[in-house]
Amino acid sequence: MFDRYEAGETAVLVHIDFSDEERREDIVELQLLVESAGARSVGVVTGSRRVPDRKFFIGTGKTEELAAMVAATEANVVIFNHALSPAQERNLEAICQCRVLDRTTLILDIFAQRARTHEGKLQVELAQLRHMSTRLIRGWTHLERQKGGIGMRGPGETQLETDRRLLRGRIKNINRRLEKVDKQREQSRRSRKRSELATVSLVGYTNAGKSTLFNALTTSEVYAADQLFATLDPTLRKLALPDGEVILADTVGFIRHLPHDLVAAFKATLQETQQAEILLHIVDCADDNMADNFDQVQDVLSEIGAGEITQLVVCNKIDLLEDFEPRVDYDDEGKPERVWVSAQKRQGFDLLLQAITDLIGKVIHEFSVKIPANAGHYLGQFYRLDAIQTQEYDELGNCIVTVRVEDGDWRRLVKQSEGELATFVFDPSETAVNG
Ligand code: GTP
Repeated sequence: MFDRYEAGETAVLVHIDFSDEERREDIVELQLLVESAGARSVGVVTGSRRVPDRKFFIGTGKTEELAAMVAATEANVVIFNHALSPAQERNLEAICQCRVLDRTTLILDIFAQRARTHEGKLQVELAQLRHMSTRLIRGWTHLERQKGGIGMRGPGETQLETDRRLLRGRIKNINRRLEKVDKQREQSRRSRKRSELATVSLVGYTNAGKSTLFNALTTSEVYAADQLFATLDPTLRKLALPDGEVILADTVGFIRHLPHDLVAAFKATLQETQQAEILLHIVDCADDNMADNFDQVQDVLSEIGAGEITQLVVCNKIDLLEDFEPRVDYDDEGKPERVWVSAQKRQGFDLLLQAITDLIGKVIHEFSVKIPANAGHYLGQFYRLDAIQTQEYDELGNCIVTVRVEDGDWRRLVKQSEGELATFVFDPSETAVNG
């Protein structure tokens, strides 16, 4: 659906400092994002304001400065590090005589390039269409029509020919397809929860090194590059531990002030995170913004209901620190808390794998199991583990128990039963749905 990027676009960036913390963005991050989109920055206009100007976002004087820089550098596009209203974009385009994009369009464009799975592509297209529907009224006739380029990829190319009715139809159609994908996804997730293997999800701020670590640990070929958002859809691989195996899941990088439209585009990835037994929170320990980025990720994890999941912090890129050896830091109870590694130089992997093993052993599950009358021996196994919280019988004589069981014990029982026990995991909402 989406055209690949046509290299060679040149951009003038606009970054305004606001006294208001909520609106503050990072110019270095914008430069990385622009590089990620495949464009080259040929100039930066900066300034400070208390609030945005209604007509141009920046003041009239700054707008003239911007137009002069566009003319002098012959840039094809202006990229704002902020959200612009459709009217502000239109007004700026008329003065600068080139395309003007805001931060949301830029990020969407990067996602469009990175989306790999069917669901990821649909999610991004949906977000693009929604963002575009607010901007449909503008005429771009004053601009040279150009195929490709930032903000012109994907549905953007047919923007002028598409009216709102068609757009609405397309959005509806994508939503329907997404619902279907979502159902299939839910099923595969459920079967994974019931499988013999626990899931460990990699999370972290963009560029922390998740994909590099994922590849190095599982020696697979997931795309990793010095670009933001090298991963959009979760990728799953088996990972061997000193005793046993887990499923390792790579997820998309977090970024502050994610435009509202995009939160929905990440629902799938975020849901994966919620299902994990352990989160590996990767941080770039050579980055000056480490503490800030760490907090951003923690905030988002709490928002999506993943704040309570056992977490191991992986301080990556120790090769960039002076005289630093891999090591593990433990908390007061002797649980591994932080592991210091270098994904690129493959340092500290044995410590990391051991720390994951130690933590997995301590993960506790609580759920209901419906044991048929002819499979009563499973009840005895739960009793021996002292795992039973409540016990009752339904009208068919099935025994329904709520159990609290350590992950290692649970996986062992599932394995011993050759998977049968896992099929008895009982979710009351499931029965309700199936009638
Ligand atoms: P997103 O997909 O954007 O979320 O990024 P990511 O967290 O998956 O980061 P990725 O693995 O793509 O790595 C980002 C950059 O950091 C790449 O240029 C890597 O080569 C580099 N990198 C990753 N790990 C290390 C490391 O241990 N040491 C050094 N020096 N660089 C590393």
